[in-house]
Amino acid sequence: MNLATTDETRSSLTDLPVPAVDADPHEQDVPWRHRHVLDVDVLSAADLELVMRTADAMREVLGRPIAKVPALRGSNVTILFYEASTRTRVSFEVAAKNLSADVVNIAAATSSVAKGESLVDTIRTVEALGARMLVMRHSVSGAPYLAAEVFGGSVLNGGDGWHAHPTQALLDLYTMRQRLPGGSVEGRKVVILGDVLHSRVARSNIWSLTASGADLWLCGPSTLLRGFEAWAARGAAAGRRFHVTSSVDDALRDADVVMALRIQKERMASGLLPSLREYAARFGLTRERLALARPDALVMHPGPMNEGVEIAPDVAVSAQSVITDQVTNGVAIRMALLYLLAGVRDGG
Ligand code: CP
Repeated sequence: MNLATTDETRSSLTDLPVPAVDADPHEQDVPWRHRHVLDVDVLSAADLELVMRTADAMREVLGRPIAKVPALRGSNVTILFYEASTRTRVSFEVAAKNLSADVVNIAAATSSVAKGESLVDTIRTVEALGARMLVMRHSVSGAPYLAAEVFGGSVLNGGDGWHAHPTQALLDLYTMRQRLPGGSVEGRKVVILGDVLHSRVARSNIWSLTASGADLWLCGPSTLLRGFEAWAARGAAAGRRFHVTSSVDDALRDADVVMALRIQKERMASGLLPSLREYAARFGLTRERLALARPDALVMHPGPMNEGVEIAPDVAVSAQSVITDQVTNGVAIRMALLYLLAGVRDGG
């Protein structure tokens, strides 16, 4: 991924064409070449900018009395989730319907997966039933990559294991750009606080935020930061601003954005945390801790939240919180991605 910092890069980004989203995606002359969205690590600075601007166009659509465009009319978008979800699953469904797609929802627990059907057989089956775009969540890291090898259309990763959650990272970037003065994360101190170890959200955000020039800080108990120091060192050597610390004070001081992460009890091995109560006492995002950040610092959380553990209930609903904006922006970002993929789907 390219770092978006030079004057030359900035001016080429300014000239990027934005799709006219009321029109057929195949008729758009936009520089988008990806058939799948599996993670953000393959997206260039220009790709990120195109997604952000297309999401702006989708937000304009969402503000209309009838928030619909015909872009995916006649296209089947199948949503196949092997793990629980509210935000990602519903916002993909809303996004696809806003683009006039035919939407099929499959919950693995009530499908033939429960009878032992393999992932590959399920993918072939949904394709035979007409799926042209497949939105997928799976508990196993890499599962969407396997799906992309056997599926004839486009695969969008709705979260795989601990590995990646690209659409969450993109809606997080979009929300920061929307709410930060100047409309950019470049040079802004962004803190990701909590259970980094099990977080696909953190891993995808590391790529997109450092590529966009943010000064990124990961913070949590050392047991939940294992392996990230090496990544930070490699990132720093490549010119990215990337720090790892267990000091909440160092991380939060003068922060522009604080994103709390859920303690993932379902993925937690024993011995990583003494107790949730101790975690909340030492690392929970409280009003007192947030006071170390800039007075107008944004409070974010990808959801779902354990209120009273990683984030205090009053912080979650404070004037600084943009958590519901993240959810709303998820629809615009997912509409943008479905639209852009539709434009390359047949020849990509
Ligand atoms: N942020 C997120 O992935 O939430 P869901 O699990 O509700 O989709």
